[in-house]
This record gives sequence, C-alpha cells and structure tokens, in this order.
Amino acid sequence: MKEKVVLAYSGGLDTSVAIKWFANKGYDVIAYMADVGQESDFPTYEKRALKTGAKKVVVENLKEEFVRDFVFKALKANAVYESNYLLATALSRPIIAKGLVKMAQKENATYVAHGCTGKGNDQVRFEVTIGSLDPSLKIWAPVREWEMKTRQAEIDYARKHNIPIDTTKKKPYSLDVNLWGISIESGKLEDPYYEPTEDVYQITKSVKDSKSAPTYVEIEFKKGIPVKLNGKAMAGVELILKLNKIAGDAGVGRSDMVENRLVGIKSREIYEAPAGWTLMTAHKALESLVLDRELLHYKDSIALKYADLTYYGLWYTPLRESLDAFVDQTQKRVTGVAKMKLHKGNCIVVGRKSPHSLYKKELATYEEGDKFDQSLAKGFIQIWGLPYKGAYK
Ligand code: ARG
Repeated sequence: MKEKVVLAYSGGLDTSVAIKWFANKGYDVIAYMADVGQESDFPTYEKRALKTGAKKVVVENLKEEFVRDFVFKALKANAVYESNYLLATALSRPIIAKGLVKMAQKENATYVAHGCTGKGNDQVRFEVTIGSLDPSLKIWAPVREWEMKTRQAEIDYARKHNIPIDTTKKKPYSLDVNLWGISIESGKLEDPYYEPTEDVYQITKSVKDSKSAPTYVEIEFKKGIPVKLNGKAMAGVELILKLNKIAGDAGVGRSDMVENRLVGIKSREIYEAPAGWTLMTAHKALESLVLDRELLHYKDSIALKYADLTYYGLWYTPLRESLDAFVDQTQKRVTGVAKMKLHKGNCIVVGRKSPHSLYKKELATYEEGDKFDQSLAKGFIQIWGLPYKGAYK
C-alpha cells in the first residue's frame, strides 16, 4: 500500500504542482481544501486536483468555526499586528492546520504537506500547529526543497505534466483571501515606494469611487461579540460578509505597510479588512464606555501580545488560551451598540450606548445638575503631586 500525504491545497500553481510532484514520487495525495470564506471555485479546483493526480479531494466548510473560535477571539482581544494588520491570514493558518491533522489521522496518512515557501510566516504557523496537535505526523514542505526555483520553472513543470492552471489571467500579486480579510503581496509591491494601483485592491473602493454620502451602520455586541447589524440579528459569518460589502463600498479597510516577518525579513504588504476594521473600531468604542480605566489600559497591553502570538504561529499555546480567559472575563460587560459612520475610507464612531455604561452624565456635565464635588479636587491634587513637590525646582 502506498503511503499517504494530506496536502493543504489552494488550487493555485504551487499546490497543483505539489500534487503531481508527490504522486510522481509514489505517494497517494489527499488534497485538502478548507473553506474559510475565500470564495474559491471549489468544484473546479476539485476536478483539477483529481485530474492532476490526487487520489481524493476534501473540501471542508470551516467558516463558522473560523469566525467563532478564531476571528471573534481576536476581535475581543483587539488584536492588530504592528498597528495595521488584522491578522486575517495568520488566524486562518491554525484552523487549516487543525483540519489537516484531523484528515491525516482519519486517513492514516504519514505526511501532512503545505505549499508555503521557506521565507514566510505561514510555514511556521502550519508546522507549529501541526506539531502541537499531533507530533507523530511528518511534515513535508516541497516548495522549500524542490528543484523549481522560480514561478516560470513551476509553470514549465505544469505544462510538461498537463497540470491545469490559470495561465490566462496570471495574477501579478500573491493573494490570500478569507472572510476576515485579504493579504496582498509581491510583484510590483515589493518596492515599498511604489503606490499600489487600484487593481491591487479586491474588495474596497478608492476614495474617488466610493459613495459621496456617508453610510451609517449600527453594530450591536453581546459580551464582545457582534450579534446584530442595523438592528437585525445575524450569525457571525453573515454579519462579516454583509459588512465587508457595506464598508468596502465606503472605501474602509485598506492598509499599506512594511511589516516585520517572524523570519527576520521586512516585507511590504497590502491588506483589506473592511468588516474587520469597522468591527474593531466599534468594539473599542463600546469598551471605552463600559470598562474602567485600569482594566482598559491593561487590556490594551494584552492586545499587543495577543497579536504577536497569533502572528508568530503560537495560537495553540497555553499563553493564548490564558489570555482568552482574561479577555472573556473583561467582555462580560461589553454589551451594547456602536453607531459607525463610514465615509470615503474613514470609519468613525459617532455614538455608543450600553446597559453597562460607566458614563455618568451627572459627573461629566458642565451644565445644570452637576453632582461632582469640585471642592474635593484640591486635596486630591495635593496628595497626587506630593512626591514631586519641588522635584524640578
Ligand atoms: N504577511 C501576512 C502574514 O504573514 C500575509 C501572508 C500572506 N500569505 C500568502 N500566502 N500570500 O500573515
């Protein structure tokens, strides 16, 4: 009996070539496609994988689990990498890896394989996750070792072996898509001074092409999780998909950054996450209403750590789980509504309300009805400033 390889298959060039490459080496290839909202043409890719030599193709719909167990955890934590990246790709890798492991166990496979290069973060995320879930599985990353060093060499290999690929519209950029966002890199974008042309962006409109009137959206959260959009109850997947369209049309959700990869390289990345930025901004606005100062500031420091762990492939770790426990404790009060104004690329909170609001008008007001005893301020300031009396005399 042949040994089996479960391969994370995207339908793209690298993983299509990988199917043939493994098959030629005498392995049975199971092509595994995780649906995390990338809106691929799965039936076409399924046929292609089989035609290329896969023994079996599995398409698994992981959208709901992705949103529930990955995306919304990151949202509750306000996880953003280096201020600009909502971690769409990084969040998808552990769930895909988990799917691969389960499939490998079910099929009694020897190897789990992926098509990542040796320069990126994704190889790390896949392999650390696979290792933590099932250390007995062997990992194979053919792109890191095979003889084809360029895209052209892979295309030549595909032609030679009759592997169906999209040669008609050769994408000038590398795209990774899921419902939390799109990551775009390489091609002309490798020059960090090159301004991306409009064709780079997949789901967001430019300031010029977006609607001239502002769009208002109301987002209702329950314990930190968005549950209603404009008053209508919605499951997470649907809410994100709807909001991607609404916010994307208003030009919201673009970032252009140079980021620090785990392997030490700086790389230029373009991201689109219209729903993500709208939800994160709304979530933070609600937190500012219901969390006290010390908790809010402390939680902000946790957000950085959470983002780093996610980015570095350390999702399945005790620290991430412990941070989630902390974050969930803070989210008990994060119930309420944020009103957002989306306009020409801007996403601005214009209102917030909650049954757990800590905002007290009678303390904040400068009008009639002030309950703040201003006479107490004098003593408070004297004691607060006591350690510094004369310190800079
Ligand atoms: N730089 C981002 C990250 O490491 C995006 C990676 C995109 N991956 C890809 N296969 N195009 O999370």
